[in-house]
Amino acid sequence: MRLQGKVAIITGAARGIGLATALRFAEESAQVILCDIDERAGRSAESAVRKISPSSRFERLDVTDRGSVESLTRQLHDECKHLDILINNAGVTADAQFLKMTEDQWDRVMDVNLKGVFHCTQAVAAIMVDQGGGKIVNAASMAGLYGNFGQTNYAATKAGVIGMTRVWARELGRKGICVNAVAPGFIDTEMTQKVPEKIRTMVVEKTPLGRMGSPRDVASAYLFLASNESDFINGAVISVDGGLVI
Ligand code: NAI
Repeated sequence: MRLQGKVAIITGAARGIGLATALRFAEESAQVILCDIDERAGRSAESAVRKISPSSRFERLDVTDRGSVESLTRQLHDECKHLDILINNAGVTADAQFLKMTEDQWDRVMDVNLKGVFHCTQAVAAIMVDQGGGKIVNAASMAGLYGNFGQTNYAATKAGVIGMTRVWARELGRKGICVNAVAPGFIDTEMTQKVPEKIRTMVVEKTPLGRMGSPRDVASAYLFLASNESDFINGAVISVDGGLVI
């Protein structure tokens, strides 16, 4: 049991990669706090996860709301006494070609993908510093490394997440906290189901492993970076893309 006795907070855990990660962590005996803005999906995710890890639960959280992030973190700390793992997974897209992108599309994606990660990490890292250690893993993306058509806003946030990961690895590493990022390629979730079939087929053809990734593929990378097996890995960005970009 690789996460026995650990408390793990996962944002955006109601579906997709976040839910797969919550289930994977539960299988390894973590107490998982599933956070998401979507209460209905979050409750159904909670019941699936609690079948494996009964102490786990859902908390409705909008990561853009700093006050809520701080009060939930305080409440969880009072209750659990330690917070061991933070997976900053919540993320959104609002795609448009650069010349047509609106300010609203820009702001929405910045708020969740960048500011949300800032809020959650600042609240949880303060506790991890006091307890002398922890693991923080951020959701980056291939788009943040290489750019992607129609994703000016999204690519900027994911490149920003990689930048923040490296700064925090330096600053917080001294306090015993490992900060890393995972950069998924094309993973089969609701987020990519919006992409036209023609593009999905093209991506699969270009991927040496010949398929899209599953949410569980990404969950396995999160598990490695959240477990003691990665104790000397800090500031890394691990691609989970089947070799799409080599
Ligand atoms: P998804 O769209 O299936 O799930 C995202 C979850 O985040 C949803 O449950 C949503 O309700 C939640 N969320 C959105 N705004 C929120 C907020 N303000 N506060 C709290 N929760 C919020 O997405 P998916 O595909 O599972 O992606 C998860 C992460 O992985 C995202 O950060 C995404 O950018 C990243 N990623 C996904 C890839 C893919 O191919 N699916 C590729 C690269 C990165």
